Amino acid sequence: MARYLVSGGAGYVGSHLVDLLVRQGGEVVVIDNLRQGHRAALPHAVELIEADIADTDALDDAFESGPFHAVFHFAALSLVGESMRQPLRYLRENVGGGLTLIDACIRHNVKRFVLSSTANLFSDTGTGPIAEHATIAPGSPYGESKLIIERALHWADTCHGLRSACLRYFNAAGSDPEGRLGEDHDPETHLIPLVIDTALGRRPPLTVFGDDYPTADGTCVRDYVHVSDLAHAHLCALRQLDTRSVTYNLGTGEGFSVLQVIKAVEQISGRRVPYRIGARRPGDPATLVAASTLIRTEANWHPKLTDLTTIVKTAHTWRAAHPLGYGDRGVLEEARPGALPLDPTKGRALGTQYLGAS
Ligand code: UFG
Repeated sequence: MARYLVSGGAGYVGSHLVDLLVRQGGEVVVIDNLRQGHRAALPHAVELIEADIADTDALDDAFESGPFHAVFHFAALSLVGESMRQPLRYLRENVGGGLTLIDACIRHNVKRFVLSSTANLFSDTGTGPIAEHATIAPGSPYGESKLIIERALHWADTCHGLRSACLRYFNAAGSDPEGRLGEDHDPETHLIPLVIDTALGRRPPLTVFGDDYPTADGTCVRDYVHVSDLAHAHLCALRQLDTRSVTYNLGTGEGFSVLQVIKAVEQISGRRVPYRIGARRPGDPATLVAASTLIRTEANWHPKLTDLTTIVKTAHTWRAAHPLGYGDRGVLEEARPGALPLDPTKGRALGTQYLGAS
């Protein structure tokens, strides 16, 4: 039975991959500091090492429980907007943690490494789908941090024979169609869960970050790719590592604007989504749509949950059923003027109805 180490495996995309690996009969060890991850997102059979990947001793302990067929690396700070405010933190944590993990893989003779990379390596690319050979120009320190890890993996292969798959996700979205796993960030900053929470009356009106972009309706266009399809892509890419390292862009090839996402949520929830137009968010490119033909043709990836309605529906189902997310966080947020009332036991906003959220 193959054994895998998954960094950040208790997080959003990581937990969907862990679930898939376990379903396929794999043995999985997760290393996660649980800053964004949730124990409740992991099956009981999975061993959790609650530690940071920058902790060399913890990593060495984790590798002692190998040998691992492959290491999947998700653990990272991942917010474009936040990285524009805290550039050095992003570079320090993502680069430092990633290099420490790669170094441990080399020392412990791991031969396959799959990186959760990002579309934020590309910016100002126009409106067409972005292929792997498009000009790399990270749109933010977050994207830059992933680029540095991609380059480190190139040299780890060249000099040490550590093969790698760099998977550049466009916008991961949706939830496990069976409704067991979902998206639960704290704070939540991603568009689809925020729009859903607004529809459910759990948040004040949404702010659309800019309507003066060079797109059809003026709002940013993104390629939303279902998280279960992303998880499958990891297994497709992993098989390629038997012979060589690969880099793939992962998306559906279709872009949707912020206003189109709002409309989709309104249709699925049957509720109006109140919103206002605000300023642009620094670091946001106008359009990011993937040309993901390479992984489809080379690695036989066939995403199944590709339409926006299905993606939003799965996200809505989990979000509506889990008002407190995984419910395993206990940090009380500082009350802000106009903020939602908090559940004092969980520190999360509860389902108060806002005026205008019918
Ligand atoms: N948006 C709003 N209002 C909000 C939140 C988001 O208008 O309250 C807009 C953003 O400006 C952006 C779009 O919705 O245009 C999507 O924003 P997200 O925050 O959901 O996602 P990002 O595109 O910023 O980033 C995500 C991941 C990154 C990854 C990137 C790749 O968080 O890790 O997709 O495209 F790099």
